[in-house]
Amino acid sequence: MSKTYDTIPPRAVAFIGLGVMGYPMAGHLARAGHRVSVYNRSAAKAQAWVAEHGGASAPTPAAAAAGAELVFCCVGNDDDLRAVTLGEAGAFAGMAPGAIFVDHTTASAEVARELHATAAARGLPFVDAPVSGGQAGAVNGVLTVMCGGDEAPFEAMKPVAMAFARAVTRIGDSGAGQLAKMVNQIAIAGLVQGLAEAIAFGQHAGLDMPRVLDVIGKGAAQSWQMDNRGKTMVEGKFDFGFAVDWMRKDLGLVLDEGRRNGARLPVTALVDQFYAELQALGGQRWDTSSLIKRLR
Ligand SMILES: NC(=O)c1ccc[n+]([C@@H]2O[C@H](COP(=O)([O-])OP(=O)(O)OC[C@H]3O[C@@H](n4cnc5c(N)ncnc54)[C@H](OP(=O)(O)O)[C@@H]3O)[C@@H](O)[C@H]2O)c1
Repeated sequence: MSKTYDTIPPRAVAFIGLGVMGYPMAGHLARAGHRVSVYNRSAAKAQAWVAEHGGASAPTPAAAAAGAELVFCCVGNDDDLRAVTLGEAGAFAGMAPGAIFVDHTTASAEVARELHATAAARGLPFVDAPVSGGQAGAVNGVLTVMCGGDEAPFEAMKPVAMAFARAVTRIGDSGAGQLAKMVNQIAIAGLVQGLAEAIAFGQHAGLDMPRVLDVIGKGAAQSWQMDNRGKTMVEGKFDFGFAVDWMRKDLGLVLDEGRRNGARLPVTALVDQFYAELQALGGQRWDTSSLIKRLR
């Protein structure tokens, strides 16, 4: 898919964390015409990115962030986010007052609020902006971005982030983006288990499952998971996609938050344990649709 970019004035931006998601997201920023400075912990990925897209690579998050109007980030978890933002080499130390930090990591609402406050003390707006849409969404520049933070920095980052997104939406104050992502993961967890049970049932019954999915995918059972994962679940292919380890991290964030806010999450807690079983089977990097493996 080739993405068409809105014409906006080119900006000086930084991108920290060139993983499965960050590498293509930063690539869209470069293709949209922005001047991109990148940082990645393993320098080889940053060198490969610069060789492909131009721009510059820096030895620390602080050095990448120096001179950037917007600093984007997509690392693993809360601790990784603290590691790239705080301290002498962290991004906050390199940013000029008024520069905006946009975090695309799926992390806790608590760390978002903590870093929002730390950044504010330095005159730096912080927007939590987790994404949905997976690796394909990042590669094709069609991610959905859910944001928490103040309105003015959100309005400033939105047209730039549209380079790798189809929707960038402010949900509410700091932490609200991460909470919305948790809603997303709760909705997916139970659905994938239901889909796994449906496909395994059909296979036990001896049905032609590609045909069944084709039919029921046009009715009320249709879902993104059925459209994008049904065929590979039938075939038993899981060596791609959104890793079980990442889902367990996300469901851990969800269950912690549920304990705080009193929400009841019985199915989510159960599916989290099913994913723990998959990890024990060696499925840490399998796609989350591998839940069906437990049923065969
Ligand atoms: N993959 C998906 O489908 C997907 C979808 C939606 C949301 N997400 C979320 O997006 C985030 C990134 O996912 P991903 O799939 O891109 O992960 P990934 O491929 O493992 O990349 C993680 C990136 O963070 C860097 N990093 C991790 N810990 C660090 C630390 N302590 N200091 C500095 N850099 C560090 C890694 O650097 P190195 O290269 O040196 O390891 C790498 O660039 C996660 O929060 C994930 O839950 C992922």
